Formats: sequence, C-alpha cells, structure tokens
Amino acid sequence: MSIIDKKRKKVRIHDFLEMKKKGVKISAITCYDASFARLIELSKMDIVLVGDSLGNVIQGKNSTLPVTVKQMSYHIKCVRNSLQTPLLIGDMPFLSVGISIKETMENAGLLMQSGAEAVKIEGATSEICEQINHLTRHGIPVMGHIGLMPQSVHALGGYKIQGKNESDKKRLLKEAKLLQNAGCFAIVLELITPNLAEELSKALKIPTIGIGSGNHCDGNILVLQDMLGMNKNFKPKFLKHYLELEESIVHSLDNYCNDVVNKISENE
Ligand code: KIV
Repeated sequence: MSIIDKKRKKVRIHDFLEMKKKGVKISAITCYDASFARLIELSKMDIVLVGDSLGNVIQGKNSTLPVTVKQMSYHIKCVRNSLQTPLLIGDMPFLSVGISIKETMENAGLLMQSGAEAVKIEGATSEICEQINHLTRHGIPVMGHIGLMPQSVHALGGYKIQGKNESDKKRLLKEAKLLQNAGCFAIVLELITPNLAEELSKALKIPTIGIGSGNHCDGNILVLQDMLGMNKNFKPKFLKHYLELEESIVHSLDNYCNDVVNKISENE
C-alpha cells in the first residue's frame, strides 16, 4: 500500500495542544490553489495556510498589502475543493482586522464561509487582542502572528530579524502571552531570533509555529513555492529548497517546445 492509499484522520484544532504536550512537531505549509492542495492532501501535512503571501507568490506584487478579503475568499475556496485532512487556515489580510469588531467579524465570517476552519491574524495590539477574543468567543478559532509581520513591513523598517535587543524580547514575550490569553490556539513566530523563539515556545501553553525562527518552535511553516525552489534566486538564509523546480520546469518546457517544432509533442 502506498502512502497515497492510507486514509488519515482529519486534523482538528484540539490536536495541536496534544501534539505540543507530547513533543510531536506540527508541519504547516501555505497553498493557494486546488492543484497543489490535491498534492498536499496526499502528504502528511497538519496545517495548510492560505496566506496573504499570495500577494507575492500568485499576484507578483512586492508586498502583501494589496491583498483583499475577497481575494482571500476566492483562494480559500480553490484550496478547499481539493483539501479535507489538514486544518485549513485563512489569513486575514491588511486592514481587515482592528477597524471595528463588526468589520472584523464580517471579514473573518466570509473566510470561514469560504471553507477556512480558522483564521490567522498579524499583530497583538490591545485592539487586535480584544477582537481576537471576540472572534474566539463566537466560534472562530484564531492563530496569532508576531515577529516580522509582512503587513507592517513599512512600520517595521523592512524584512529584518526581530527580537534582537532586550526591549524587543520583552515586548514579544508580552505579545505572545496576550495572544494566548485572548484565546489563540497557536502563534506564528516569523523571523525571530532562534533563542527567543525557543524561550517563547517554552513559556507558552499553546504551540508556536516558526518561520525563519530556528528549529525549536513547536512546528514550522514555509511558503510552498519557496520550499519547492520555484525561484532559484529566492533563497533567504533559513530557507531549505526541497526541490529545484525552476530548473525542472524550464527544462520540461524547453523539451516540449523542441517536440512541437519536431512534430512529436503528443502521444499517438
Ligand atoms: O502569508 C503567509 O504565507 C504567512 C506565512 C508565511 C506564515 O503569513
């Protein structure tokens, strides 16, 4: 029997606390479409995030700021069509949280109605924590996100590692605890110094999911197209390429072009 034939148990929110208690690491990946979702469904992945990184990966923009709630909803529906087993999380895009509780509820509600089983929210200001608390009390599970928050790239002064000095460390520890108290079931730690990420993971009851934050979080997330090596020039220090798809794809396309020229491009 291949792994593809094995039916896995549906992954649910309460599994993550159990996994943290038992020291079982949580695997997470981003995805934006049905064809990749079908492949992830065949894997052992625990969490799929329809990230607003689709602004970079799918739309070719240089930040996540232009992504809208409607676009998130569209991509969540695409992924949902081919995904059942991993927990499906939808990212709340720029300015979709925090303006008013009513708007936050409507935006999160739309993502849930599109097929998400939880939403992810960047930031931990008192307004955001209050709204996270409101969402969680109304049955919408929330994953937090601190450290490098791409929606705040201009305020943070660029894509740089977070938590280097004492005051930043204290602030991040405080933010993580506020998010836990607000009801988050897990927190993404993006580009945080590995020592601090480890300290935060130990200090929290809920799991941490790292990206660019070392190997001592309770789980890890990567952007799918990045880890598949679809752009060989995009290689931040922390990123492992598990495939070199850019080369394989361009090579296959050139082979196909040659076959078209030689009139042998289809099986007969
Ligand atoms: O938008 C995204 O893909 C993310 C992950 C990288 C954590 O926020």
